Amino acid sequence: MSNSKRYTITAALPYTNGPVHIGHLAGVYVPADIYARYLRNTGNDVLYICGSDEHGVPITIKAKKEGVTPQDIVDKYHAIIKQSFSDFGISFDNYSRTSAKVHHDTASEFFKKLYNEGKFIEESTEQLYDAEANQFLADRFVIGTCPKCGNEESYGDQCESCGTSHNATDLINPKSAITGNVPTTKVTKHWYLPLDKYEQWLREWIVEGHKNDWKTNVLGQVKSWLDDGLKPRAVTRDLDWGIPVPVEGGEGKVLYVWFDAPIGYISSTKEWAEQNGKDWEPYWKDENTKLVHFIGKDNIVFHCIIFPAMLKAEGSYILPENVPANEFLNLEGDKISTSKNWAVWLHEYLEDFPGKQDVLRYTLTANAPETKDNDFTWKDFQARNNNELVAIFGNFINRVVVLTNKYYEGVIPEPNEFTDVDNETLEKLQKYPGIIANSIERYRFREASQELMNLARLGNKYLADEEPWKQVKTDPERVKTIMYVALQIAAGLSVVAEPFLPFSAEKLKGILNMADTERSRSVDENVISTPLNHQLSWNDVEEKSELIPANHTIGKAELLFAKIEDKDIQVQLDKLEATKLANEAENKVVEPQKETIEFDDFTKLDMRVGTIIEAVKVPKTKKLLQLKVDVGIDTRTIVSGIAESFKPEDIIGQKVTVLVNLAPRKLRGVESQGMILMTDTPDGKLAFVEPGNDSVKNGEQVS
Ligand code: 2FM
Ligand code: ZN
Repeated sequence: MSNSKRYTITAALPYTNGPVHIGHLAGVYVPADIYARYLRNTGNDVLYICGSDEHGVPITIKAKKEGVTPQDIVDKYHAIIKQSFSDFGISFDNYSRTSAKVHHDTASEFFKKLYNEGKFIEESTEQLYDAEANQFLADRFVIGTCPKCGNEESYGDQCESCGTSHNATDLINPKSAITGNVPTTKVTKHWYLPLDKYEQWLREWIVEGHKNDWKTNVLGQVKSWLDDGLKPRAVTRDLDWGIPVPVEGGEGKVLYVWFDAPIGYISSTKEWAEQNGKDWEPYWKDENTKLVHFIGKDNIVFHCIIFPAMLKAEGSYILPENVPANEFLNLEGDKISTSKNWAVWLHEYLEDFPGKQDVLRYTLTANAPETKDNDFTWKDFQARNNNELVAIFGNFINRVVVLTNKYYEGVIPEPNEFTDVDNETLEKLQKYPGIIANSIERYRFREASQELMNLARLGNKYLADEEPWKQVKTDPERVKTIMYVALQIAAGLSVVAEPFLPFSAEKLKGILNMADTERSRSVDENVISTPLNHQLSWNDVEEKSELIPANHTIGKAELLFAKIEDKDIQVQLDKLEATKLANEAENKVVEPQKETIEFDDFTKLDMRVGTIIEAVKVPKTKKLLQLKVDVGIDTRTIVSGIAESFKPEDIIGQKVTVLVNLAPRKLRGVESQGMILMTDTPDGKLAFVEPGNDSVKNGEQVS
């Protein structure tokens, strides 16, 4: 385990064009939070910072779409995001925003320093321009074919398919995302960071220097860009939303969002320092500080190439020790998408599952997309909760606490002599902090979470093997030792679970009466009913033979985790299904009009109003109902393919439109004497053609 060090831990600043979803959490905020909490628990000086990324084109696009200002958009989502992070227990030391004055000042100063030192290339060139929108087309304002991988939907600054960062003018067949027009060009001046000058240094620092400690997905991407050769990259834009370019000739221009956003880590640190009477500089300038950036894979180029080149050019900053980027999390088999509302939004999860922050933290960690893209499913979420948190962790704690209360009124018994099994179990307990720490320090959070569960399994196995509930009748003295040992495991769990399950660890400490208050144990006091004062550390679990002492009184049993029922999962699945149908309806193309017919053709159709008077399912079919319909002329049998949309008993008495002179035909042995006219609703169900049915959209075919 690490000796005390200073850590600056950053989590990618989320764009404030939407709320935070599980993909963000699994990729960045949960692993970074586990890391930060673990390092605090092991006695390090940790600064975990983040903030809202409030500039950039996606925000202006969203504002335009909603007919509000970009400021309205960032204010709204900054508030939602900040609150949901806090409710979810993400333990940022500071959560700032890039619209803060300290950030504008810091980013401007940074730019000016590089400008004054001649670190930029200043160049007037032809840039893509949309004359109709009166707008230069950079970043997400332009879409075209990626010159590297051929993805036809690449943005002007980055291809989301291969991760490459490029200039908008590199795109093949560019198109304006605002009007769809093919852009013209117009001359404009910008400042470029000559990345090519840093190529050799980046290669030495990352590809050579970090080949053994950076993740292979990160090294792979970096190496591929370096092998392709780096080019100067514009760090300013012709936009009106962002930080104004603070030098002569910069009027009407702003800093590129990816120039200012990572500086946001520095300004968030300054804000924290100001508010807490600290000095910010050691966290960014002291060589002994370890800087670690937690990001998603789409941010690798910015954190491994562009930001380090900026820091190197500036000269006074440290560089990241590691950039543990994660891959992406999908949702129920499909890519998470803010614009398609295909996501589990954090603020909605917190409302739907109050008090269950740890369940989501655990699920996202146990299934984290660390080395490849992964899928979140609600069934897996339920299984992780019911089969692991409830059945293993919760069950162990519950048994220990219930039995201690039952046998000893909650007072931890003095142990007798330890057996070999007891000693081995206690030795194993002492190894777990090291095992878990080792995984965390290598950014293997999935593995770490499974080791945590293994410690709970150790406790369960110990109880199952020693069977105190049986031995209590024959050997009560032995049971005292068993319960003492089991309680040591419970106390150990309350410590090493904290980074992963902070709410449950806190609750467990409460149950064990191990709160962080003054401990008062005097010689003549046998029973310690006051809470233990000491916050046990990881080192304590590793080194101390006793974590919770005999004669200490624990509290009553409380459930740490509750079973999640199928119906709760179904609500979530239904929500997603509704999203899918809404998206399909939005994208559904209205069928083009058929060939013109003459009036005489139309009059051949004999359509009548009718009423369904009987309805039964046609046996062994999924879709067919056999109906008796009173069509005025007679009552006839009609077989209709509507069984997936209607129950027979619900449509008795339903008025329908019937094509009565359609030639009869046999369906599954039953002669159908006509056809009921139906149409579709947006959610994919059938609907009867009847005036006043509001669920039917104009343009749906009647057939
Ligand atoms: O990809 C994103 O969501 C960006 N807003 C991340 C920025 S990270 C940093 F550099 F600020
Ligand atoms: Zn590409």
